[in-house]
Amino acid sequence: MKPRTAFGQHTLPGEYFTSEEIFRAERTQIFHRSWLLAGHVSQLPAPGSYFLFELDRESVLVLRDAGGTVRAFHNLCRHRGSRLCLAPHGEIGATLQCPYHAWTYGLDGTLRAAPNMGDVPGFDPKTLGLKPAALADWQGFLFLNLAADPVPFETALPGLVGKFEAWRLPELRSVHQEVYEVEANWKLFFHNYSECYHCPKVHPHLNKLTPYRNTENDLDEGPVLGGPMWMSNPDGSMTSHGGRCAVPFAGLSPEERGRVYYYTVFPSTFLSLHPDYVMVHRALALGVDRTRIVCDWYFHPDAIGAPGFDPRSAVDFWDLTNRQDWELCANAHKGVASNAWEPGPYSDLESQLAAFDRQYLRALAPEAPAAARRQG
Ligand code: FES
Ligand SMILES: [Fe+2]
Repeated sequence: MKPRTAFGQHTLPGEYFTSEEIFRAERTQIFHRSWLLAGHVSQLPAPGSYFLFELDRESVLVLRDAGGTVRAFHNLCRHRGSRLCLAPHGEIGATLQCPYHAWTYGLDGTLRAAPNMGDVPGFDPKTLGLKPAALADWQGFLFLNLAADPVPFETALPGLVGKFEAWRLPELRSVHQEVYEVEANWKLFFHNYSECYHCPKVHPHLNKLTPYRNTENDLDEGPVLGGPMWMSNPDGSMTSHGGRCAVPFAGLSPEERGRVYYYTVFPSTFLSLHPDYVMVHRALALGVDRTRIVCDWYFHPDAIGAPGFDPRSAVDFWDLTNRQDWELCANAHKGVASNAWEPGPYSDLESQLAAFDRQYLRALAPEAPAAARRQG
């Protein structure tokens, strides 16, 4: 398939990378309304396991209840608002007790005990359960939406529905995580991930493994964008030595085994599916000019348990590539934040950046009809 061109589109004007007002609009119009990747079911191994997802003033508690169901609640007590869980992850036990006055909740969110409240007129524990947050389990990846009435996950991100089942994503586990903080606007990371125009110059080893024109996009409009790149060595992978670091996922076709599949999921995630492992980046805008990127390397338990399993060649390869890319993003941020900046032209190798910008502007525009914002 011939990639869609950038249609003569230019990059975004400088204020999209510098304006606090636009950044605030992004919070309300985009981040507090979109499905954001929070974690993976493997982080909740047993009833009572939990982790927190935090954005601005919001804190969401994602837990596994006594019956094994994964649930999400706002991390606040219905009495006087105390945070219930303080550590970023851990084990709760059979019930969840507020650290302030010891109101106690079941893992299903119901209020089970509230000392000295029995005689309070009108007190009804049934109306004071934990407030649920919208949660979607997409193939083991747990997405949250902070909106009170969110667009359903499948409507918001149709590009993900039914995709990537052969990688057995619900079974995977992260074996390594790196957290980076970079002085650059969050959109520059999406731009950087979405093209390989820079690869021959900046990532010579990567460009040998997947020459920059070995690409086609199967999703080129909407909130999920991307497609495969095929490797020079169909038995290789993206590692420091160019070979696989684990047996390939059993369900992949011969064609899929020779490719790496790269997708951006607006506005928080990059998915990179290799024949032998899956890398996931989560981007979190900390400020208009600062972004945290959390990168996980996921493998199948069969690979993790195999004698001699060693993921270092995958971790080293992408950690180096990540750091090269973050430096590019920080450098570009300095230029687009300058008063002298004028939007530059996109090449045909940057059609996905142009598509990202269109998606971003649709999501940001408060006057856009809901149907346009939801379009997939
Ligand atoms: S704030 Fe939680 S019990 Fe009082
Ligand atoms: Fe790069």
